[in-house]
Amino acid sequence: MLTIRWGDPKGIKTDLILLVVCEDKAFYGNSTIKALIEQGSLYPEFAGKSGDELTLYSPGGIKAKRVMLAGAGKASELDCEKLRRVAGKAVNKALNADLAGLLICIPEPAPGCPDRAQMAEALMEGAALSNYRFDYYKKDEKHKPLKNIAFHSDKKFAGTLASLAEKTEIVCKGTHMARNWVSMPPNDKRPSRFARSIVKAAGKHPMEAVVLDSGDLRKNKMKAMLAVASGSSSRAQMVILDYKPQSRDKTVVLVGKGVTFDSGGINIKSSAGLETMKQDMAGAAAVAACLVTLAQTGCPHRVVGLMPLVENMPSGSAYRPGDIVKTASGKTVEIGNTDAEGRMILADALHYAVSQYAPDVVIDMATLTGACVVALGEKIAGVFSPDQALAETVAASGRRTHERCWSMPMPEDYKEGLKSDFADMRNVGKNRYGGAIAAALFLSEFAAGTRWAHIDIAGPAYAGNDSDYCRPGGTGFGVRLLVDVIKNL
Ligand code: BES
Ligand code: MN
Ligand code: ZN
Repeated sequence: MLTIRWGDPKGIKTDLILLVVCEDKAFYGNSTIKALIEQGSLYPEFAGKSGDELTLYSPGGIKAKRVMLAGAGKASELDCEKLRRVAGKAVNKALNADLAGLLICIPEPAPGCPDRAQMAEALMEGAALSNYRFDYYKKDEKHKPLKNIAFHSDKKFAGTLASLAEKTEIVCKGTHMARNWVSMPPNDKRPSRFARSIVKAAGKHPMEAVVLDSGDLRKNKMKAMLAVASGSSSRAQMVILDYKPQSRDKTVVLVGKGVTFDSGGINIKSSAGLETMKQDMAGAAAVAACLVTLAQTGCPHRVVGLMPLVENMPSGSAYRPGDIVKTASGKTVEIGNTDAEGRMILADALHYAVSQYAPDVVIDMATLTGACVVALGEKIAGVFSPDQALAETVAASGRRTHERCWSMPMPEDYKEGLKSDFADMRNVGKNRYGGAIAAALFLSEFAAGTRWAHIDIAGPAYAGNDSDYCRPGGTGFGVRLLVDVIKNL
């Protein structure tokens, strides 16, 4: 729970107080806080540089047991991400030391800095996102999240900050939800079970939830989805979440790739890191969690989430390289590689999106290509859209949320590589170069003139290492991003 406190911090009983300290400027007007920072400045190892940290134990004159000073560099260079990170670190410190209470003092705005609400929101996000571990499968090391994280400011901002805290907590819980799904082992999230889990989460909030089973998919001629699922003993499912507010401005469809495990199929992947292919449903997880979030925070648009769920496995009934599959749109696809399965299920889902809902905007999110990770690394997603303004809207949301997206090109002439001698197109290019672009161009064939963007999250969906507000495993990337994109459409 994120709560708001005001008044002199001197009298506040807590285990840990976090203060953000700059190299060159006082960030707080309160005299108690100023005196604490003064105490910190007696230690030459702490200069307020970004990453500097100093803890004062039982400092005189205040009730709190510890004060953590976190350096944030020059005031003019302070940004929201630095604040998320210092708050994340403070929460980790409190969790590791088994502390019960934490108070984070919100700095006062200085020239060149984000404004007060932005700083508060960033600190709240960093703290809430960090207050999380995936411990479902641990018998002994159960995580005890901090029950309460308090934020300190002046009384006159308390109302604004309280509503900000409420909203931020919902969005961060949405991110935790996506992280849980992505980190969950693939034996416990095979398509029908994952579908039920999504429907259960959605059922607690005002939206419609429907699941198309493989019979329904057949009726809808979604043979690309069925082909990918045919190697698995778990059948394909399509989950549809529909959030319809009373008055609706636009209709937005979000499509999330939901491959619950990607073995590669008959073009089987090599064994190194294969276990991380449980992450291949991160697009679906982000879309589902985004809908659950929007249904709580409210949204002026009708938002539909489509989550095609399959498991890509090799077997005697699996689809083969060389197969020609007829997609729901009528276009035929020659399978060049069964490991390019994501674009197959998205082809049917995108066609369903544009033909069923006549949407104003369609956005798909997918762990689609290793090539995108080669291009942009593990922390930045690729955004592809024939509509530059839409790509820029997504990139701008990426900058605000620090779920970064880099706009990538979709050159018409590269479509050449997807030509097939036998079918309307192939599911892979002629060579491995520009693989993320080839995949995006393939998808563009199914978005049929609708305003559409594709976000390739193969890099940032999953973390191998710890960072300041995220543990190894699913990152929940995409939830805060999509919520922000929809807010700005
Ligand atoms: N799910 C993978 C992409 C991926 C890679 C996701 C790394 C997360 C981390 C996708 O289905 C895939 O296998 N893509 C192939 C495409 C190729 C066969 C054209 C790839 O990237 O190698
Ligand atoms: Mn694959
Ligand atoms: Zn895949």
